Amino acid sequence: MGTKSLCLLLASVLVAYYVYTPIPENIEERWKLMLINAGFRTVSHVAEFAEWLDLMHYMEVLMMITSLEYTAPISDENVTVTDTKFNNVPARLYMPRKQSSGLKRAVIYIHGGGWCVGGSAMEPYDLLSRWTANKLNAVVVSVEYRLAPMYHFPVQFEDVYTVVKFFLQNSVLAQYGVDPNRICISGDSAGGNLAAAVAQQLLDDLEVKVKLKIQALLYPALQTLDLDLPSYKDNENKPILPKSLMVRFWSEYFTTDVSLQEAMASNRHVPAESSHLFRFVNWSNLLPEKFKKDHVYASPIYGSSMLGKKYPGFLDPRAAPLLVDDTKLLGLPVTYVLTCQHDVLRDDGIMYVSRLREVGIEVIHDHIEDAIHGVLMFITSPTDLALGHRVANRYIEWLNINL
Ligand SMILES: *[C@@H]1O[C@H](CO)[C@@H](O)[C@H](O)[C@H]1NC(C)=O
Ligand SMILES: *[C@@H]1O[C@H](CO)[C@@H](O)[C@H](O)[C@H]1NC(C)=O
Repeated sequence: MGTKSLCLLLASVLVAYYVYTPIPENIEERWKLMLINAGFRTVSHVAEFAEWLDLMHYMEVLMMITSLEYTAPISDENVTVTDTKFNNVPARLYMPRKQSSGLKRAVIYIHGGGWCVGGSAMEPYDLLSRWTANKLNAVVVSVEYRLAPMYHFPVQFEDVYTVVKFFLQNSVLAQYGVDPNRICISGDSAGGNLAAAVAQQLLDDLEVKVKLKIQALLYPALQTLDLDLPSYKDNENKPILPKSLMVRFWSEYFTTDVSLQEAMASNRHVPAESSHLFRFVNWSNLLPEKFKKDHVYASPIYGSSMLGKKYPGFLDPRAAPLLVDDTKLLGLPVTYVLTCQHDVLRDDGIMYVSRLREVGIEVIHDHIEDAIHGVLMFITSPTDLALGHRVANRYIEWLNINL
């Protein structure tokens, strides 16, 4: 064998080693997913390197990459798309073109991206909103909230809240021809977190008279207290959201100070003064046996009270909607929760299902056994997966029947 072919062989082995990630047995299109995940890991490595060189913040690199996927607001034969503002907060608006008598349904959509990246203009989000508008003949408002690290909690929450509150006025709904009795708030991942938080806070807002008919929470992040749940342990290195990245997203939502990130990574960030909150996320009570597997519940280990004082946001239910008393859950709309088996956030969603059901809220829990986090992102070429299309269809079909 010549030197050249030896080098080639060595390079191929290295590439294969880099690309290879163990993918759960029940997932289809394994190699495609592996390649996509290798792409995500590469971006993450580039971002770490740029940060190490002090060139850019890690999230700025991720933001640059995701912004390559931004599309202009282009109308098509079915839907008129415009970028607009609701009470000064930007949003992308999808108005179906089909002439119909009577009022339309509406979906307020909140995109994911760990409160740090993403946008309503990203191709998969744009497509999902178009499909929703077209299939349901509904008005879709996709909110463009401000992001970390430039803006921290509660800016993201407040931007979304501002749009929702503005839109839910009878005069505004009338202007868009929306039926006030058929409005949904929906979001994925960090967007599911914001949707759940906004739906809770609306219940106490006496100025808002219109009620949401449903909330759809798609693999949402719902709590900051226990970052060692069985789902975090089982899926620590699964595509496309490893635990380390989720910890980084959570901590960046509140601060760029690495001390919070470090404390969260070792699950020692909650001060003893907040020990009473742990009962809201006690997986030993809130998870069905099937998800507990052979995990053993351990009492929480507390961190310094300084972190809780400096960054109280991580103990705030507007950031962690699981941290409310049962009485605050009463009055929530019919809830659709989508969870993915191979996802660090799986147990957040499942625990919310248990809590909502305990107080009598109607919940539809759609658990997808062969799905990973972020599955709805994979609906546009070249990174589309049959799984992404299947899950998107299920969710939109559910909305169509229930909204
Ligand atoms: C418009 O709607 C029809 C019927 O749902 C669909 O077949 C067609 O692909 C849609 N066009 C676009 C551009 O999405
Ligand atoms: C969680 O639940 C278990 C089992 O019911 C219980 O033993 C434990 O004390 C609870 N922990 C907290 C912090 O509420």
